[in-house]
Amino acid sequence: MIKLIIDTDPGIDDAMAIFYAAAAPDIELLGLTTIFGNVTTPIATRNALRLLEKAGLELPVAEGAHGPLSLPPFAPSSQVHGEEGFGDIPAEDPKGVSVPEDAADFLIRMAREHRGELVLCPIGPLTNIALAIQRDPEFVNNLKRMVIMGGSLDEGGNITPHAEANIYHDPHAADVVFAAGAKLLMVGLDVTHRILCTKADFASIGAQSPELGGMLQSMSEFYLRFYETVGKFDGCSLHDPAAVIACSHPELFEVKKLPIRVSCAGETSGATLEALKGSRGETSVCLAVKAEAVKALFMARLALLP
Ligand code: RIB
Ligand code: CA
Repeated sequence: MIKLIIDTDPGIDDAMAIFYAAAAPDIELLGLTTIFGNVTTPIATRNALRLLEKAGLELPVAEGAHGPLSLPPFAPSSQVHGEEGFGDIPAEDPKGVSVPEDAADFLIRMAREHRGELVLCPIGPLTNIALAIQRDPEFVNNLKRMVIMGGSLDEGGNITPHAEANIYHDPHAADVVFAAGAKLLMVGLDVTHRILCTKADFASIGAQSPELGGMLQSMSEFYLRFYETVGKFDGCSLHDPAAVIACSHPELFEVKKLPIRVSCAGETSGATLEALKGSRGETSVCLAVKAEAVKALFMARLALLP
């Protein structure tokens, strides 16, 4: 059983990842922290609270940074996730509210309280994580490990030809994280582009889990339509679920250990690049995946939900 916190910008595939974590018997979810990206940070907080309530989980949600460390704020990715983050599903206010601590302070405290046990899984831009590293030099040492959805080594980008969206939206923060010496697993486009879920797969999820799976099925319609607009007709990538699955099932991924740096300017801004050997700690970069096994786990676990 792993103790997990997800840092998230929900977001359609974020919702899939959070419901997967709620269903997985080998994951103890301790809370969520929120960040801009697919939506603004206040909408991310509202959506995170709503997902937890829907899943029947009373867990803390800590709101994070409203913009990148150095760059001006980006417009949310509403063409991918919809204005409110969940495709065509209308906005709905949760009953609960976020905790008074901000995301970075919450992460620092939880890492101290669960020293050596906490797995942190950021599935949005890395601003909150960089702030936690800057505020507490012991932060990464207190974590068991960090599993990031982001980056791309050989695959090219998805928001520019060079950059994956989560890294692109705050490259300075990502560089702080890759330099921090954490035990780091990078689940990037090299593997998430291999794990595809079709309309028929979501119909099966909705049939087996009418309430929560049905909500994901509804959201997926918007997400799949976006994929079709960019010429991808064989399904959508399970980006964020893949990272959460890697937290408890690393054996499904093949990695190469490399020092990683992030380009912070020019046309390659947001690219994750191999750094000079010895210049910083090594990241385990996922380069191959047992894609069908990851997808099967995703679908089997979601089927456990109401
Ligand atoms: O590039 C994929 C990532 O960008 C995912 O985390 C998705 O939710 C978006 O934030
Ligand atoms: Ca995300």
